[in-house]
Amino acid sequence: MENIRFENGALYLLDQSLLPNQEVYIAPQTKEDYFFAIKKLQVRGAPAIGIFAAYAMALLDTDKYELKKYLDSARPTAVNLSWATQRMLSAYNEGKDLIKEAQSIHNEDRERCCKISEYGLSVLNDGDGILTHCNAGALATSSYGTGLGPLLLGKEKGYNFHVFSDETRPLMQGARITAYELEKAGIDVTLICDNMASTVMKQGKINAVLVGADRIAANGDTANKIGTSGVAVLAKHYGIPFYVLAPTSTIDFNIETGKDIIIEEREPSEIKELNFREPVALPETKCYNPAFDITDGSLITAIITEKGIIKNPSKENMEKIK
Ligand code: MRU
Repeated sequence: MENIRFENGALYLLDQSLLPNQEVYIAPQTKEDYFFAIKKLQVRGAPAIGIFAAYAMALLDTDKYELKKYLDSARPTAVNLSWATQRMLSAYNEGKDLIKEAQSIHNEDRERCCKISEYGLSVLNDGDGILTHCNAGALATSSYGTGLGPLLLGKEKGYNFHVFSDETRPLMQGARITAYELEKAGIDVTLICDNMASTVMKQGKINAVLVGADRIAANGDTANKIGTSGVAVLAKHYGIPFYVLAPTSTIDFNIETGKDIIIEEREPSEIKELNFREPVALPETKCYNPAFDITDGSLITAIITEKGIIKNPSKENMEKIK
């Protein structure tokens, strides 16, 4: 199932906010449609947001500088968004065909995801138990995905994995999207609440953790979906390899360390109301809702990119991938 489809001059987007209960495609028309599709997670996952924004830059007949600023402001943490809009702006300034440029960004992501999946599969063994957090699958990218890529590729090659998917509070991408995607692919998946990760690790059910990233600093610190750094601490405690899989377009060499990464803060209603029949806290109860957290490079076994595997990410080891 394709999340972003460009067909006969129009763009169609699978509305991920409705998954897994409804599979509905929308066709954004205005710049506000594009902005809110990103903001409200109708399209989500760092590479997918970048691809979607690239088509917006190509299709909308409006001031491209203003449009880039507007779209970038929808979600500040994922570097792929501003990376893609910047590439489209440069293409515009050079008088290139913008549709072709957006399609190139889309196609290049497919190639990157395939390579990441191959490298990722090389560190796994048939029968492994895998823990993942949030969704870094085909729906977060163009195809295969990053964190889930080795599992989808492995399935094609006859591997059997047993995947535990954290539900990923508060927006439940693990339950709504990862479990949905793996079920569809015929991969064994068991949904757990986020606070059960330690238990399945202690029970010896997990051989490796695979996650995606939204921005990677020059020293190997990574911004991932909120809750990921806790999983990394647990993996270190239990001696389980913790892999971050991402295209090199997610590495931001302008950012020295994770401390400098801007973390998106979202509405309290997502914690108190969104996925419940009734609010689970009083209206006056304060909520803090950061959408991402930072995993120290020292907790990461390796960052797996389309250009190769960066073991023990550090400033020095990250430089080798440049
Ligand atoms: O808030 P989301 O659903 O966009 O967050 C997605 C993630 O955290 C992914 O792991 C990340 O973007 C990498 S996607 C290949």
